[in-house]
Amino acid sequence: MANPATAHPFLHGEFAPVREETTAFDLRVTGAIPPGLCGRFLRNGPNPIAAVNESTHHWFLGNGMVHGIRLREGRAEWYRNRYVRTPDVTDVLGEPRCPNPWPPGHGVFSANTHVMVHAGRTLALVEGGSPPVELSFDLDTVSVADFGGTLPGPFSAHPKRDPATGEWHAMGYFWAWGNRVQYLVVGADGRVRRTVDIPLPGAPMIHDMAITERYALVFDQPCTFNHAAAVAGAPLPYRWDPDYVPRIGLLPREGGADDIVWIETESCYVFHPMNAFDTADGLVHVDVVRHPRMFATEQRGPMEGRPVLERWMLDPARRSFRATRLDERPVEFPRIDERLTGLPYRYGYASMPGRGFAQRAIVRYDMQSGASALRDEGEGKGFGEPVFVPRRADAAEDDGWIMALRLDRATDRSDLVILDAADIAGEPVATVHLPVRVPAGFHGSWCPDG
Ligand SMILES: [Fe+2]
Repeated sequence: MANPATAHPFLHGEFAPVREETTAFDLRVTGAIPPGLCGRFLRNGPNPIAAVNESTHHWFLGNGMVHGIRLREGRAEWYRNRYVRTPDVTDVLGEPRCPNPWPPGHGVFSANTHVMVHAGRTLALVEGGSPPVELSFDLDTVSVADFGGTLPGPFSAHPKRDPATGEWHAMGYFWAWGNRVQYLVVGADGRVRRTVDIPLPGAPMIHDMAITERYALVFDQPCTFNHAAAVAGAPLPYRWDPDYVPRIGLLPREGGADDIVWIETESCYVFHPMNAFDTADGLVHVDVVRHPRMFATEQRGPMEGRPVLERWMLDPARRSFRATRLDERPVEFPRIDERLTGLPYRYGYASMPGRGFAQRAIVRYDMQSGASALRDEGEGKGFGEPVFVPRRADAAEDDGWIMALRLDRATDRSDLVILDAADIAGEPVATVHLPVRVPAGFHGSWCPDG
């Protein structure tokens, strides 16, 4: 039993790594899985494969493990969890390294942050310098990815899919690049069609981005690569820099770095925008989860005060910024109906942590009315990131399901819960019972077949 006073907050309890790679078939289901749900629910997260130093370990650096639940014709056919077999994992396991098209010396580290499908490929994703890793349908590692030789270098864990074109938009960064970020557009064919190098005053951690119909948004924020921390051996040498001017760049979607309109914001840190869109009067609205700061005093994970949902209104003509607080309760992992990425939208969903960063509830926001609905099953249960799945391709916004993993602390096992998106507090449509616990982790996707 770990000493609560000194134990790492992201290595024990619901965060504790699992040691087994499990394969289970024909999972027990309560309720009825909608027969139209044919695909895989996948989720990535850090799962250290070897012992780590609890005094210096950072949650963001655990080895990647992807968990998947296969649904088809009303049945839950399988559950699998697999390490993403980057060299740091295969070296521990004593396995041969996976195919890697990059030249020797090109850094490849744990792809532990997100898992998405693009151009028919299942990709485990991470930021900060390492390329994505392709997985098979059954979650075995296929190869380090290079997008058919078109990826210049680092990628991101948070590409945004433009629903109009099917293209991915992303911001890639790497401390060794110095003070710049690279905007990338990956075509629906899976090949990078455009890059824009964007010089910056420092080397910030750029976890995510947003698009509108007109712009790609660059989050240039005061959590930057810190040489002193790197020299001192910090595993994640990014630190809060109170002197760094926080701003958002509005890059015209087909423009260059010189076309960016930079707008100063208030001092804070945003990992995740919920969505962004252009307004008829020329503004950009971006809804964000705002942390007061990041890695100022806490170097083990993102715990620097309450993260809250805000709407930021950016005026490119006046270069002005205005923020409106939408909720005082803590939230993270915001998601939407991704058919509306970059477009005006009404509904958003997020996780609502309990004490510390413990998983707890999920919340559904009606951004138009300001109303919200909560699914909170008490301290004994904890929900991960809520993923929206439309009922049909042409269904209305919010007409579909929320899928989320739910930990039962009493049994130390997880379920995949399928909720009616319009009634998240109601009886679940279906609950798929997993034979194991899925550690609290990061991001995931519903990956329909085809
Ligand atoms: Fe993220």
